[in-house]
This record gives sequence, structure tokens and C-alpha cells, in this order.
Amino acid sequence: MIENKEILVTGGTGFIGSHTIVELVELGYTPIVLDNYSNSSSSIIRQISLITGKKCIFYQGDMRDKVFLKSIFTKHQLSGVIHFAAFKAVAESVEKPLHYYDNNLVALINLLGCMEEFRVNKIVFSSSCTVYGVENSLEPLTEQMSVGKPNSPYGWTKWMGEQMLADIAGKSDLRPIFLRYFNPIGAHPSGKLGELPLGPPNNVLPYITQTVAGLRKELTIFGKDYDTPDGTCVRDYIHVTDVAKAHVRALSHSFNSNFDVFNLGTGKGTSVLELVRLFEKITGKPVNYQFGPRRPGDVDALFADVSKAKKFLNWNAERTIEDAILDAWKWEQYRLENEIS
Ligand code: NAD
Ligand code: UD1
Repeated sequence: MIENKEILVTGGTGFIGSHTIVELVELGYTPIVLDNYSNSSSSIIRQISLITGKKCIFYQGDMRDKVFLKSIFTKHQLSGVIHFAAFKAVAESVEKPLHYYDNNLVALINLLGCMEEFRVNKIVFSSSCTVYGVENSLEPLTEQMSVGKPNSPYGWTKWMGEQMLADIAGKSDLRPIFLRYFNPIGAHPSGKLGELPLGPPNNVLPYITQTVAGLRKELTIFGKDYDTPDGTCVRDYIHVTDVAKAHVRALSHSFNSNFDVFNLGTGKGTSVLELVRLFEKITGKPVNYQFGPRRPGDVDALFADVSKAKKFLNWNAERTIEDAILDAWKWEQYRLENEIS
């Protein structure tokens, strides 16, 4: 029997989705890509083809549109889904909670309805370290910890998504994997694919690259009075291609339970100020920054215990934070030279 390798990738033109598509194609899968371009652009499809040498099947539409979503399941024999599509800006979610609950949860509910109807049981769900609800992790966070109260409506949408999937898995053949990302950064090592924020970036590394490229006046470091060694927030930054590879591993995971959960990080925390200093050291470019007030929804320090992914997915981060910074900077320059927007 020939294994069906069609995988639906929702949010596939976004930052992590696009890098995952490259890995899927390289390992012989056929990604079926869906996106509504609410936070990405059609130019990413061209960049993926440039790297892989293959054309992707792509559908533009909103997952909240049930008819649109069902039409994809009707056309393809899907063997699994990687679900990236969601809004992801923590501070914006504090300002516009309904916008986040509507998009992130309605999209997931519609997707699960189609998966049930068309008997597709495998789903990899983009979750986040924010579900631990921890403000300051003095020890690395492990999957065995119970989830807590996330700090933002965005975080609650991930918490609720996991809960919904776990409940359904207990009553059906659905076998979800939750990948709890820490902080994905960087770009494809070719420099031809990377994050393409629409408007001012919310995430820190694209803000740094755009500042150094002259697109932004200065980086504001949000808060310098956190309970961390230099007063700025500490996060576990992980290269996006490592994150992408974990999704492909997750597709062939053997389950011992109804669902499974894995942290994706490096196990090492880096402060915002350290990230700025590393950028300056690696690229030789000064970063113009100032300190500003804390950003709503931010927490002091988070970093991962990654031993479970190593043991059960045979996965660990292969690239360093230095690689990620260099690749992100390469991409920023490439995209400006080639006018990619
Ligand atoms: P992204 O915004 O770059 O990609 C998400 C994509 O989903 C975008 O292209 C957007 O246009 C699309 N989308 C959103 N709502 C949609 C809808 N209703 N219908 C169709 N398409 C829709 O984000 P990303 O950084 O690639 O993140 C991917 C996933 O990982 C998200 O679920 C995010 O919450 C989660 N996550 C991201 C991070 C991070 O730091 N980047 C950390 C933890 C978890
Ligand atoms: C957050 C979420 C994560 C979510 C991700 C997607 C938490 C703990 N994590 O990551 O779940 O999926 O966003 O967007 O909530 N910073 C600045 N200046 C800037 C931008 C950021 O100082 O202009 C700082 C932030 O205060 C933070 C760090 O840089 O301390 C990283 O921020 P960011 O890249 O936005 O990621 P998180 O907020 O950690």
C-alpha cells in the first residue's frame, strides 16, 4: 500500500508554517496549504518554491468559513493536519479578547468538525509555553507540570485548544499532539525565507532586524525591572527550522495515550538585553534601543525542559541562537533587496 502523504497545513504561509512546509516537502510529504493572509502574504509561496523546487497546493480562505474548509477535505485524502493558523500577539489579545477567542477557537472547532466527518485523526497543534501560566521559572518547565492560568486571552485560546483536543481524544480516535513552543526565532539558513510581519513586528527579533535595517527608529525594550539577572525578560529562543523539524517527527509519533505533549525549546534562557548584545556581536551592527514600560501580558522568565521531546520524538535543537540571529539578519537583507512584502 502506498502511504498517503497529504498533510493539511493551516496558517502555512505564516512564520513557522512556511518553514515546516519546506521540511515536509524535503521528506516527501505533500503539504496542502491553507491561509487567509491575515498575518502573511502570497510572496511566501514563491519563496517556498524557490527553496524546495516544487509548487505547493495552496488555498486562500478563512478557517472560520466552514464551507471553504470542508471543500478542502472533500478534494484531498488527508492523512493528518498541522494546525498553525491563529492570531498570536499577546498584547493585542489583551486589548481585543473577543477577536482572539473568535479566530483561534472557531477555526479549531471548524477544523475538528471536518476531521471528524472525514475521519482524519492525526493533528499537531501549535501550543505555547504560556499555558503553564508561570510568571518566573527558576527551574525549566516540564510537560509533567499541570497547566496553569495563562497571562492573556491569547494564552487562554491555547489552553482551551489543548483542553478541547484532549476531551475529544478521550471519546474518539483523534490523536492530537500539542507542541508547546517557547520562542521560535530565525529564518531559513538560505536566507530566502523568514518572518514577514505585516506592520510593526510584535516579536523581538524581527523588531531588532528592522531597526538595524533602518525601517524602525529604535527598539523599545519592554521593562528593566523584572526579577531576572539584568532586569529584562528571559526567554528560551529556538531556531525556527528546529521547530519545523519537530512537526515532521510528530507526524510519525507512536502514542501510548490518547494525546501527547512536548516542549520545544533549547533549555537555555536568554534575556532581551543579552539578545541585543549577541545581535551586535554577530552582525557587527549597533542596535539603537531605549527602555520602555513593561508590556501587558509579559512574564519574567521562561525556559524549557526538553528531555521528553528528545526521548520520544528523537528531536532536539540542532542550531544555536547565534545561527538564528545570523539567519534572521540574512533574511532581513534579502527581503529588502528583493522587495518582498
Ligand atoms: P504567523 O502569524 O506567522 O502564522 C499564522 C498564520 O495563520 C498566518 O499566516 C495567518 O495569516 C494565518 N491565519 C490566522 N488566522 C487564520 C484563519 N482564521 N484562517 C486562515 N488562516 C489564518 O504565526 P507563527 O509565528 O507562524 O505561529 C504559528 C502558530 O504557533 C500560531 O498558532 C501561534 O499562536 C503559535 N505559536 C507561535 C509562537 C511564536 O513565537 N511565533 C510561540 C508559541 C506558539
Ligand atoms: C509570546 C508568547 C507566546 C506567543 C508568542 C507569539 C508568552 C510567555 N509567550 O512570546 O506564547 O506564542 O508571543 O507572538 O507570553 N520585547 C521587547 N521589545 C519588543 C518586542 C518584544 O522588549 O519590541 C520583549 C518582550 O517583552 C519579551 C521578549 O522581548 O520579553 C520576547 O517577546 P516576543 O518576541 O514578543 O515573544 P513572547 O512575548 O515571549
